Amino acid sequence: MAQLWGGRFTKETDKLVYDFNASISFDRKFFVQDIEGSIAHVVMLAKQGVLTKDEKDIILKGLTGIRKDVEEGRLQITEAYEDIHSFVEANLIDRIGDVGKKLHTGRSRNDQVALDMRMYTRLEVLHVDELVKKLLGTLLDIMESNTDTYMPGFTHMQKAQPVTLAHHVGAYFEMFKRDRLRLKDIYYRMNYCPLGAGALAGTTYPLDRNYTASLLGFEGPTLNSMDSVSDRDYVIEFLSALSVIMMHLSRFCEEIIIWNSDEYRFVEIDDAYSTGSSIMPQKKNPDIAELIRGKTGRVYGALMSMLTTMKGLPLAYNKDMQEDKELTFDAIDTVKGCLSLFDGMISTVKFRRDVMEKSAMKGFANATDAADYLVGRGVPFRDAHAIIGKLVLYCIDKQCGIEDLSIEELKTISPAFEEDIYDAVSLKSCVERRLTIGAPGMGAMKEVIAAHKEYLAKDWQDEEHIKLF
Ligand code: ARG
Repeated sequence: MAQLWGGRFTKETDKLVYDFNASISFDRKFFVQDIEGSIAHVVMLAKQGVLTKDEKDIILKGLTGIRKDVEEGRLQITEAYEDIHSFVEANLIDRIGDVGKKLHTGRSRNDQVALDMRMYTRLEVLHVDELVKKLLGTLLDIMESNTDTYMPGFTHMQKAQPVTLAHHVGAYFEMFKRDRLRLKDIYYRMNYCPLGAGALAGTTYPLDRNYTASLLGFEGPTLNSMDSVSDRDYVIEFLSALSVIMMHLSRFCEEIIIWNSDEYRFVEIDDAYSTGSSIMPQKKNPDIAELIRGKTGRVYGALMSMLTTMKGLPLAYNKDMQEDKELTFDAIDTVKGCLSLFDGMISTVKFRRDVMEKSAMKGFANATDAADYLVGRGVPFRDAHAIIGKLVLYCIDKQCGIEDLSIEELKTISPAFEEDIYDAVSLKSCVERRLTIGAPGMGAMKEVIAAHKEYLAKDWQDEEHIKLF
């Protein structure tokens, strides 16, 4: 049991207490960030004259050696250490002797863990953003090739008005685009360096916090040492953004599941993304979509857990905050997995144009257009609405669509109908006449697709020359 703090204790820690308190099983995940943070700290201490150049060189060699040995499998991170910080420091002392004991000068595990977690989270914000961007590319491809794939648009799960597949998928494009904006926003808000806050009240050493912050790619140092060690807002904000991403994925999955059902048959999920049943040989189940929908609860759980953990904590650091890690790591890994799998599933799904189109033609999705037609012939909209309502009732009775009625039948309901009604309520004109920006008509859709292309060609991550650790 390697601990950093035995001095004021006369007894060994109880084994159960040690295990309960230890965090190495999960904080090993930010081993690289711990090393990078220590390197920056040591470089800064030497610049400030707190360490000599020789001491700095020896410590840096030790730290990079530990990193290399772990990465190449010569050194194992084991549960013999309380946490990743103890692991690094103990190994450093083993390796370089007493000079290693100077690493922790002017630092506490409180600002150290705050830094590691922030750096780890910051990197993952970028990774998640990249995956969302990749998905947006896939969605845009689908949109481009389906600007004339007609399908019913729904409200209340009932056919409402015809749209196109490009338009439907375009709705998700907007959602995921907003998700990226949220991630970018979080990145900038969190990108301040807590190192140098010490345990809670700064330190008496002449630290150059601006310098450490710039070495580690931060905008600058955080400005209140108590807040620095006790702030986990960025974790909560990230979990919230992850939850919204999952909510979007889950809604899309729900639609894929419905569309894949025998009742709809709008899509066929690729064999590689479906599974069978152990008893029913005919089954091809949309398990991946269901699992993504299911895992949404798990990510929301992490957000609720973190909000609850933080709500009663007095300033500054409290050990409760160690609970920020496991669920956050799990949520990040879950969302990354779901984004990749969803991307794979949606890029291989077969959209059944014919079925979608046929479905759009049934269910009076063109009723609004029939009313609009009458408006064009001088009937006030409210009256037109009532006339078409009657017409729909008549059609339900006859089990046919508006377009199946003869002009004579139509005229008995309203003399305003003429032969051109058939064209006005055809699927194509219902969609193609919707040309305001944001609507499904081909012209409007193409404008939006061009804007999306331009948006995807630029990348905020490249523009900002972001440095990753
Ligand atoms: N494992 C701890 C955490 O995750 C590190 C900080 C420990 N600090 C302390 N004062 N016990 O929060």
